[in-house]
Amino acid sequence: MTIWHPTITTQGPRYRGIADAIARAIQAGELAPGQRLPPQRRLADSLGVTVGTVTRGYAEAERQGWVTARIGSGTYVRNGDTSPMTPLRHSHPMDAGTIDLSLSLPPPHPLRAASLGRALKGIAKDDEVLQRAVAFQSERGIPAHREQLAAWMTNLGMPVEGEELLITQGGQHGISLALQALTRPGERIAADVLTYPGLIDAAQQSHLKVVGVPMDDEGMDMEALARLCTQQQPRLIYLTPDQNNPTGTVLSQNRRERLVELARRHDFLILEDAVQYLPEQERGTPLYRLAPERTLFIFSTAKVLAGGLRIGALVAPPALRERLAAALRAQSWMVPSLMVEAVCRWVASDDNTTLLDWQTRELGERQSLAREMLTGFDVGGRPHAANLWLPLPEGLRSAVLQEALARRDVLVTSAEPFCVGSEPAPQALRLCLSAAPSREALAKALDILVELLNEPPAAPWRMV
Ligand SMILES: Cc1ncc(COP(=O)(O)O)c(C=O)c1O
Repeated sequence: MTIWHPTITTQGPRYRGIADAIARAIQAGELAPGQRLPPQRRLADSLGVTVGTVTRGYAEAERQGWVTARIGSGTYVRNGDTSPMTPLRHSHPMDAGTIDLSLSLPPPHPLRAASLGRALKGIAKDDEVLQRAVAFQSERGIPAHREQLAAWMTNLGMPVEGEELLITQGGQHGISLALQALTRPGERIAADVLTYPGLIDAAQQSHLKVVGVPMDDEGMDMEALARLCTQQQPRLIYLTPDQNNPTGTVLSQNRRERLVELARRHDFLILEDAVQYLPEQERGTPLYRLAPERTLFIFSTAKVLAGGLRIGALVAPPALRERLAAALRAQSWMVPSLMVEAVCRWVASDDNTTLLDWQTRELGERQSLAREMLTGFDVGGRPHAANLWLPLPEGLRSAVLQEALARRDVLVTSAEPFCVGSEPAPQALRLCLSAAPSREALAKALDILVELLNEPPAAPWRMV
């Protein structure tokens, strides 16, 4: 393959010439969406400029929105549809019969929209609340709202006081906010070697390098983390201790204690993400209780009420709250109090408990169904989790199976988007059992999966 060679026509600094040439080549179709730009050193050699000039040129092209840099992988022409990290669902047109098990959504139930409707109707009749909703409020949220969200979390077995939390626009916002406010560009953070892709994206936006820590059956390997702390001094460690996303692995109690010991010795922050909800009896001791002085805890409405509400909580130690509030203020002044009010009314209503009880039973049923249908295969994950992790039998490749499933209108996720940096992806699939429109639809999708596991498809690639 020939390396793309820019023609630099712009007068002025060379780096700007490189950025302009990238923009022109993309507009002319010489650089295709998803295409990787040449490695910086190679381009520097071929243009007779320093690597620093190419780095600045690529950074300028990224700033202008033409390309996107992936730490440890390279710089790619931007286009959400063809990005290699984009889940398969976007590259296959969805038809009405498609069973999408690729996104981790709560199981569909008419009560979700109905509860929101009831909350909004109540708000529409409440003049005082409407007056508050049209006014600016504190960036941390209205104190009464914080108290109500704290009470809701406490009821769910996550004890917290209203003054300890900031209201966010969901769990992803909590992650971005923590990284933006508490790290500096170029710093390192660490996470399980397979982790929630939203953390990888947020770290990239904050110009951080994410280092992957190996895991085993007890979660993150603390001895590997100890070595990493000595060698690379990470500023923060991100974990989902009660169920790793995607594998479902739980961080053992011993390791939770060892993590806290390491955090105190090496002075790093802990970002604990509990968005993937589990019933209290399936959770371990939260890290924010073990190390309250250095742990930030993230929760949201996404997996218990509805993903579209975009409301969450970021619990933070007192010393960090002002910095987080300042970052939130700089981003958007505040989270709209109207949505928070709707959530507060919803969680205070009977609908909330009815829905969560139903959901917990439903997820338990879906997990049992999947485990029964996949008898003989090695599956991982928690008994009431939304997701199931399926390491593939020897000889099967996840990309082949994922493609074959998509041809049969079943969408699943491979390990690839969860891999930190350029770590190799295990051959495995994540199945979001909760996202199927019904248990029947789930059974149908699993039938197809089992058929393909038993009679593996041929690789669809044609190449010489
Ligand atoms: C582990 C984890 N954290 C955070 C999020 C994002 O939460 P939210 O939708 O509230 O932004 C998700 C969503 O799937 C998740 O799986």
